[in-house]
Amino acid sequence: MNDQSSTMPGRFPGLSSKLIATIIGVILLVEIVIFLPSIASFRATWLEDRLQVGVVAARVLDAVPDVMALPRDLTDRLLNSAGAHAIVYRREGQSQLIELTNPVMPDTVVTADLRQGDLLSRVGGALDTLFASPGRTLRVVGEGDLNESLVELLMPETPLRRDMIDYSRSFALVSLGIAAVTAFVLYVLVSRLFIDPVLRVTDNMLAFRKAPENAALILTPSKRADEIGILERELADMESEIFSMLRQRRHLADLGLAVAKINHDLRNTLTSAQLLSDQVATLDDPKVQRLAPRLVTTLDKAIGFAQSVLDYGRETSVVPRLAPVNLRGLVEEAAFEARVAGNPLIAFDNQVDGALMADVDAGQMGRVLVNLLKNAREALEAQTGDGQDFRIVVGAANEAGKTVISVRDNGPGLPPRARENLFVAFEGSARSGGTGLGLAIAREITEAHGGTLALVPEPKGTRFDITLPARLGDS
Ligand SMILES: Nc1ncnc2c1ncn2[C@@H]1O[C@H](COP(=O)(O)OP(=O)(O)OP(=O)(O)O)[C@@H](O)[C@H]1O
Ligand SMILES: [Mg+2]
Repeated sequence: MNDQSSTMPGRFPGLSSKLIATIIGVILLVEIVIFLPSIASFRATWLEDRLQVGVVAARVLDAVPDVMALPRDLTDRLLNSAGAHAIVYRREGQSQLIELTNPVMPDTVVTADLRQGDLLSRVGGALDTLFASPGRTLRVVGEGDLNESLVELLMPETPLRRDMIDYSRSFALVSLGIAAVTAFVLYVLVSRLFIDPVLRVTDNMLAFRKAPENAALILTPSKRADEIGILERELADMESEIFSMLRQRRHLADLGLAVAKINHDLRNTLTSAQLLSDQVATLDDPKVQRLAPRLVTTLDKAIGFAQSVLDYGRETSVVPRLAPVNLRGLVEEAAFEARVAGNPLIAFDNQVDGALMADVDAGQMGRVLVNLLKNAREALEAQTGDGQDFRIVVGAANEAGKTVISVRDNGPGLPPRARENLFVAFEGSARSGGTGLGLAIAREITEAHGGTLALVPEPKGTRFDITLPARLGDS
């Protein structure tokens, strides 16, 4: 079992913490986007308020014929209330100036033109003020209340900057508050609606995987109609299926074991009977002489059957050990074992190239070939008639990165019963004394090698192709 896949993430390293982080991140991002225009408009309003004082002053200047004649403390008060060093009033090409009694000599002057109404320049101005070095002087330009008149204020930037920083601070505090409250509310909602059900499903899957034979662990789906509901129902169905499949398998395996035991004893008993029958066959009684050979063949068949059932149980569970094997040699050996090579009735032709290699389990692949060759021989031998020209041909080639071995004979072809149950264990036999295991075993072994076994249609006779994956390193 993979440890990593079975460890359950705690509530925080998992979905929930990602969710909270995402919500807070998104809200803060939105707040930043909102912050820029609002700090710009805060600055514009702040400056506008100061400019209004300038406009009032301009009106006074307009009314008096001689500015110099104005009392000093009046102009100073006017300037102080606008927070300015100086006010300039321009109208019809003329300009008038009032300034503090002790005029300040400005160092760096930046212009804030309130007549420029576009958002971008306002935001730019606001950021400029926020990140400016202290001690700059602002030249605020705006329209006066009379046509074509202009009012200019010269003032230190610091008070504006201080107010803007205060504003930003409260904005950040409020934003964080909103983000926290929203994240919490959303988290609770999303947890209830989505995360908790997903956690329930995850927990259930992990528990069920550990003990799939415990029916109490099968999920009870809720009545939700959405995707999570579908997920729950599908999971519950899947778990029920796995549960019954496992139970069925266990029963089958138990049965198989019982059959193997019975079969084993049966084979031993039959072998003893065979020994007895051999002795009986030596008796001189003519009746015994007539019946004994039939008794011997029947017992042979029964023992053969018991043996192949035992083999089936053993063989199919062994993992193939792949190693490079010379195919021509393998075919040659199998042909001898299947009593095809050296058979006086059959012309056997091994056409496999002597240099051809394949990565197979020699024992198991040999068994596949023996089964196919034996079937071919049995089909040919069962043919009535004079029996000339019986042929079995085995060829092999590398095709499109695969190795294909074909076993062909010029016999009668597969009978319908064998065709219908092709590769089905115990079902496919269409000859007397056949177990119907040969092809099923052959197919299982080929598939365990990552290959396929297929019946290939031929105008006459039978052809089976074993297709194996290419050897590592071969193209
Ligand atoms: N080359 C062939 N030509 C004609 N019929 C074949 C050929 N190969 C297989 N068959 C038919 O397919 C049936 C199934 O073959 P399979 O090898 O699975 O079982 P079997 O030969 O009957 O028994 P077993 O091989 O287990 O002793 C055979 O009974 C036979 O009728
Ligand atoms: Mg067979």
